[in-house]
Order: sequence, then structure tokens, then C-alpha cells
Amino acid sequence: MNVIVVNVKTYKEGTGKNALELARIMEDVGNEYGIRMIIAVQPTDIFKIADDVSIEVFSQHMDAIDYGSNTGWILPHAIKEAGAKGVLVNHSEHRMKLEDIAFNMEMAKKIRLQTIACAGNVNVARALATFKPDYVAIEPPELIGGEISVTSARPEVIKNAVDAVREINENVEVLCGAGIKNGGDVARAIELGAKGILVASGVVKAKNRKMVLEDMARALVK
Ligand code: G3P
Repeated sequence: MNVIVVNVKTYKEGTGKNALELARIMEDVGNEYGIRMIIAVQPTDIFKIADDVSIEVFSQHMDAIDYGSNTGWILPHAIKEAGAKGVLVNHSEHRMKLEDIAFNMEMAKKIRLQTIACAGNVNVARALATFKPDYVAIEPPELIGGEISVTSARPEVIKNAVDAVREINENVEVLCGAGIKNGGDVARAIELGAKGILVASGVVKAKNRKMVLEDMARALVK
């Protein structure tokens, strides 16, 4: 099933009660259109949001640690217990060392968290596919937060990432992100072989978040 993943980052509009409000809008639009919606929130907001809405809540990050003597880190088991169904790994705004990515992928499987592994280019997408995440998300870093969607600025990157990931593992799906703003961008992403989108500013900072999400959802049900 195609999916809309909204990463609220640390935007004010995506923090605390604002994140909860957005999660509720996503839940409504998801139900209305029969679309799978995932909200990726700050770890501190997982419990409150997962407790309130039926859509899946992901953590934006977790650290490569196990139970024990660690201070101020994000423990994978803790995000799971707080209600997270999955986690973003290696977002380009929170890159990780290869050994930590490997640790997180193993840990996520062990404690049953879904994974979206983020790649800034096709070679990294190919490499991440070897870890068998649920999704590889391709996001050219220079387009993140910008006005031009990856689907118009670098469509070949999405197509090449889909081909590269498929070559490694047919069960790993590809999402794309960076600059996505509307239903047209979503439709193009699907045409290029993506199974959905990873979006932030286009939804989180929109004046009318419901309208934008509805436009995107309509593109997925077509
Ligand atoms: O994780 C999604 C993100 O990096 C894309 O950001 O603001 O370009 O939709 P944005």
C-alpha cells in the first residue's frame, strides 16, 4: 500500500501539541481516503501521539545502544515501549556511521520496529538496501526544505534508486522526498516507481495542512 510519511522534524509547527494536532489531521485524511499515513515525530512526542491516534507513529531517530549505562541517548526499546511502530535511520539531517546503521537495523528487527533508511544518493540507497529495511527513502540533500520537488528537479534519481534497490532486494520499497508540495508531485513519485513519499515542510509548514494532505491523498488513490 502506498504511504504518506510526514517527518515533522523540529519545526515549531511539528512539536508537542502542534504535532498532535497534525497527527489528528493525518488520521482524519487517512481514514477518509483509505491511505496509510505515518508521522515521524521527536522521541519526546511519541507517547502522547501514539496514545491518541490510530495512524502509525515513527521516531525520527534512535541511537545504536542497548539497555544499560548510557546517558541522554535514545534507547530503541524506549521508543518501542512509548508506542513507536518504526524509526527513521540515517536521515540526512542526522547521519549515522555505517556500524551504527548496521546495529540499528539489527536492533529494529529484533524488537520489531519498521525501518525507513534514508539515502542522499543512489549509491547510498543501494548500500542501505543490503540491510533489508522496510523502505529506503531517497532524498537529495540539496533539495530538502526547498521549493522545487525532487520529482521535477531530479526525477532520474528516484527512478535509478528504485532500480538499484530492486536489484539488491525486491522486498525493499522506495520512498522519495525533498521539496514535495502537492498531489502532482506525489503522482509523479508513484509514476517513477516510489511506493510513497517522505515529506516535511510542504505539509508541516503549510497554511492549510488538511488541504495539502487531501490533495496528496487524492493523488495516491487515483
Ligand atoms: O524527511 C523528509 C525531508 O527531509 C524532506 O523535507 O521539507 O523537503 O519535505 P522537505
